[in-house]
Amino acid sequence: MSGNKNIFASKVGAILAAAGSAVGLGNVWRFPTEVGTNGGAAFILIYVLFMLVLGVPIMVTEFAIGRHGGSDVTDAFQKMGGGRRGWKWMGLIPVVSGFLVLSYYAVVAGWTLYYAYEALMGGFSGKSPEEFTNDFIAFSSSSWTPVFWMVIIIAMTCGIVALGVQRGIERGAKIMMPLLFVFILVLVGCSLTLPNASLGLSFLFQPDFSKVTSSVLLSAMGQAFFSLSVGLGCLCTYACYFRKDVDLMKDGLSVASIDTLVALLSGLIIFPAVYSIQGLQPDAGPSLVFITLPNVFQQVFGNLPWLAYIFSLVFYLLLVMAALTSSISMLEMSAAYFHKNLNMSRPMAAVLVSVVCVVLGTFCSLSFGAWKDVTLFDMGFFDLFDYIVAKLIMPIGGMLMCVFLGWVVDEKVLRAEMTNNGTIKSPLYPTYRFIIRYLAPVGIFLIFANELGFFDFLS
Ligand code: PHE
Repeated sequence: MSGNKNIFASKVGAILAAAGSAVGLGNVWRFPTEVGTNGGAAFILIYVLFMLVLGVPIMVTEFAIGRHGGSDVTDAFQKMGGGRRGWKWMGLIPVVSGFLVLSYYAVVAGWTLYYAYEALMGGFSGKSPEEFTNDFIAFSSSSWTPVFWMVIIIAMTCGIVALGVQRGIERGAKIMMPLLFVFILVLVGCSLTLPNASLGLSFLFQPDFSKVTSSVLLSAMGQAFFSLSVGLGCLCTYACYFRKDVDLMKDGLSVASIDTLVALLSGLIIFPAVYSIQGLQPDAGPSLVFITLPNVFQQVFGNLPWLAYIFSLVFYLLLVMAALTSSISMLEMSAAYFHKNLNMSRPMAAVLVSVVCVVLGTFCSLSFGAWKDVTLFDMGFFDLFDYIVAKLIMPIGGMLMCVFLGWVVDEKVLRAEMTNNGTIKSPLYPTYRFIIRYLAPVGIFLIFANELGFFDFLS
């Protein structure tokens, strides 16, 4: 525990840890995938709106619960629930979600690691767009290679969580995050110079509201929550280690701004490139990023192979690191529970969770190939896990946490957390309280009701 507390010994550490969890494949891989399959600009507008009015308040809510609760998420709910025992069970949401989310996230993180390896071996040089497409399909649908890379990612995550070398991560993150940002900016510049880039821009910025269906709304909410890591209690787990002088509202807003910016910039890399490369479609799904990016490197730096080599290698390595800072927060959710409540050592807890995730992750990975036809509710394992996490647990968890902090917990506690016991001003407090009491619970409920077809009679 004490090693763990150290991570957030500084105020910057708190932001960095939360930003490290938030910025990851959700921004660079899942965001473009969702934008592509949900029709572009209109989806982005709704997503940004949900980030602001739902995502940020839920993030702050998680911070407040975690920090006030102190030692452990299950304790936090019990303590703040004024002894009403039912709320204690809310603390199990992060435990279960940790397994589910890491299992499929690690599959894509494994793909990223494999691409970093390919970049290292010079595997991208001189390839045509068709070859990149075929290579990706062959790789992701093969049985053991992607599983192998997924296992390495989980093992790395486990090693870091078990050893508690979070300090190294904090230091690493301070260098890595700005560097990733710079690389992304350069790539945006490159992508915008490709032929037909303007078609990608209009896809991103000219909304067509006729494409907004009920499932687009649910997807936009799911993406906003996934990208911010909210709704599962992940940030509660981290906030248990926050210092008392961290300004929760300010931190929430900073993290959300960084996160949204990275997502939008990723869109600016991917979509101009999609429209410029023959044979690619914006709605290609999870493969989109892995096929477009190597093409961009090739097309932009084609005449300078050494630059293409260095650039793609460093970019994929940064992406792996961004994925790791997120996967660490996922493993921490479940491992922290076993460590604190079942008297297990940290390494033991981390290994236990990792082993289960390797098994579940193998199912998810195989659903791109050998087990393509094994479906439940019309979805393969990977899609099913993603659906359960982003479209069910995250919104429901977020809604319950808002109800908990807005209605169950004594208002004095909430006010004290937001103003750090009256030592700072929190001008947004009244708006925030209104959102968590009314807007967020009702809004999330309506989006679900809409998806389930309750309002079909209106059309
Ligand atoms: N927000 C992370 C990303 O964008 C994913 C994540 C989801 C992390 C849930 C923790 C919990 O990649």
